[in-house]
Amino acid sequence: MEVKKVLLLDDEIPRQWYNILADIKMNPPLGPDGKPISPEQLAPVFPMNLIEQEVSDKRWIDIPEEVLKVLKIWRATPLMRARSLEKALDTPARIYYKYEGASPPGSHKPNTAVAQAYYNKEFGIKKLTTETGAGQWGSALSFACAQFGLECKVYMVKVSFEQKPYRKSMMSVWGGKCIPSPSPYTKAGREVLEKFPDSQGSLGIAISEAVEEAVADTTGKTRYSLGSVLNHVMLHQTIIGLEAKKQMKKIGEYPDIIIGCAGGGSNFAGIASPFVYDKINGKDIEIYPVEPSACPTMTRAQFGYDHGDIAGYTPLLPMHSLGHTFMPAPIHAGGLRYHGMSPIVSQLIVEGLITPKAVNQLDCYEAGVLCAKTEGIIPAPETNNALACVIAEARKAKEEKKEKVILFSWSGHGLIDLGAYDKYLAGEVIDYKPEDAELKKYAEILKNYPKPEMIKDYR
Ligand SMILES: Cc1ncc(COP(=O)(O)O)c(C=O)c1O
Repeated sequence: MEVKKVLLLDDEIPRQWYNILADIKMNPPLGPDGKPISPEQLAPVFPMNLIEQEVSDKRWIDIPEEVLKVLKIWRATPLMRARSLEKALDTPARIYYKYEGASPPGSHKPNTAVAQAYYNKEFGIKKLTTETGAGQWGSALSFACAQFGLECKVYMVKVSFEQKPYRKSMMSVWGGKCIPSPSPYTKAGREVLEKFPDSQGSLGIAISEAVEEAVADTTGKTRYSLGSVLNHVMLHQTIIGLEAKKQMKKIGEYPDIIIGCAGGGSNFAGIASPFVYDKINGKDIEIYPVEPSACPTMTRAQFGYDHGDIAGYTPLLPMHSLGHTFMPAPIHAGGLRYHGMSPIVSQLIVEGLITPKAVNQLDCYEAGVLCAKTEGIIPAPETNNALACVIAEARKAKEEKKEKVILFSWSGHGLIDLGAYDKYLAGEVIDYKPEDAELKKYAEILKNYPKPEMIKDYR
């Protein structure tokens, strides 16, 4: 019988996350004084148990039972073979995907939202604040907070708030409170609105607003939660790749190519990290994080120190950054409109362990519609970026007559993003590509910060 999907039973779900910090060396985040930041300096923003994870270099970290109990609502996610897509492309490649759209909010985001809500609850926190781009992260955290009885406040990038009203509805059902950003309720939001009253918002602005609200709470019972970028988020997402490895082993397969879209880097790092470990230990695998050419953080930005948000509230992180005031074009993949990149993903690029790619918005929608017609699932606009790359690689395999095994992360479904598909089908979606001069202007800001050491081949 032809295998279409590979499942894992509840007792086969991995019990530990893989921490890649045991296997790569990184530059430290820096505080306002330019010195490595101490855990105590981060304490007003994150609970200490998550700060400990952020800096841990232990290779395997146990997943708490309470976290597993919630993850089991939808995990393990199926590993699917995209047989109809393969047929449509007439490719010798075998294409597999991890379907993360199976979660209640519809993406990979609750893998870390559940863990973060749990650790905050354990630490005595009552309320979490956060930002959201496309709304996937805000709904994931609202869902997770409902599971652990925490309050949740979400600043949603205005352009997405208006494009995707049902994301707010989802958050409300789970008890989360969602407001558009920039908002008049924080200093960071007011400053943007004064300069740009029509601002469509950005993840960098929404992060500033959410951090500001968390730190301003004098009861000490509110913390901020980030849906991507940071080391502990990448850690929690490794369950994707660890499951995929088990599932591929069950059918005697191993990937030649791994692909994931990357906004802050978490679903990509989640699927890729356990295989990067194999690559470090001698396996021959091509690993591609994919971004929109409208927001070319990995492919056209420098590796430098920069803030994760517009107001400069976050520490300086060693990462690829377009400059924290960069305003990405209003592409529909809201979750990929971010000026920076996870320091872990950035370090893997510096070391040559992974090779970033950029794709155009129109190619993404063409890929998404082809996958919807063949595989049946309507992908999230972010996932379409991965799909465009998967299709290009499958076509290349055909040209080269090679039976490549491709594994990718189908990071979410697009059922709350149908307005974007309507626009594409009406011919209203366009490509954006920033000019070199524009990128240079925004990147000037990085000159104000120290240069991270280029750590390469230290093993
Ligand atoms: C469905 C989906 N995929 C991908 C992303 C990008 O985030 P990350 O790079 O952290 O996986 C997002 C972010 O909102 C998303 O909603």
